Amino acid sequence: MTAAALAAHGLTRRFGSLVAVDGVSLALSVGELHAVIGPNGAGKSTLVNLLAGELAPSAGRLLVGGREVTGWPAWRIARAGIGRSFQKTNLMRDLSVFENVRLAAQAATGEGWLRRASAAGRAAAAARAAIARVGLEGFEEAKAGILPHGRQRLLEIAMALASGPKVLLLDEPLAGMGAEESERIAALIRALAADHAVLLIEHDMDVVFRIADRLTVMVEGRVLESGPPEAIRASAAVRDAYLGHDL
Ligand SMILES: Nc1ncnc2c1ncn2[C@@H]1O[C@H](COP(=O)(O)OP(=O)(O)OP(=O)(O)O)[C@@H](O)[C@H]1O
Ligand SMILES: [Mg+2]
Repeated sequence: MTAAALAAHGLTRRFGSLVAVDGVSLALSVGELHAVIGPNGAGKSTLVNLLAGELAPSAGRLLVGGREVTGWPAWRIARAGIGRSFQKTNLMRDLSVFENVRLAAQAATGEGWLRRASAAGRAAAAARAAIARVGLEGFEEAKAGILPHGRQRLLEIAMALASGPKVLLLDEPLAGMGAEESERIAALIRALAADHAVLLIEHDMDVVFRIADRLTVMVEGRVLESGPPEAIRASAAVRDAYLGHDL
């Protein structure tokens, strides 16, 4: 059996007396779209921050391709092949689309472009490829800040792709989007799962149940249930947690 692209074992994060993420285990594989759902405050973003190394776990382990990376800083985990987007935007509004993605690619190579012309060329090529992958060709020179919301979300995905990661962690990439744009980006995320391991945080149940291969339901930091969409839909525990909502 090949090792999971990214695996968490008993991942736990405390903030004072609050256990925001409580013993979460999951495995992400290339070719699979794994959605994490749960009410506000369930610990979804904290989980992403733990998986990306932006937060250190209070307990538990993290493995990339079977290799222990627990406690590694975010930049090192990023270079091990983990790309992420943020629930709150991280794009630089006054820079162009191309510059935003190029800087993301450059951060991942860790080589100063002023010192290394070849690294600059590689970052630019990676940026162009990521921009093409999300369908933003033709917008390279547009300022990020003036793009419509849907295109800004595409730009954030391009930034996550810029380092050529195996794993993509996407924290609510469809938030605040109209139905048509949401469809487009959902289709893109589905396509990206063909050659990435994708973890998707999303509140829109229609989208999640349609495109995910596997769902993990979090409530109060813990995994309530994990399995294929049909098993989650049939779960009494999940129905109770979402009482009054159609699944
Ligand atoms: N840096 C922090 N310090 C203290 N508490 C935090 C911190 N980050 C998150 N929390 C708390 O941890 C819990 C989980 O938050 P988190 O943002 O992970 O939830 P979420 O599932 O992403 O929610 P949402 O759906 O609203 O984005 C919340 O109670 C939150 O207030
Ligand atoms: Mg969140």
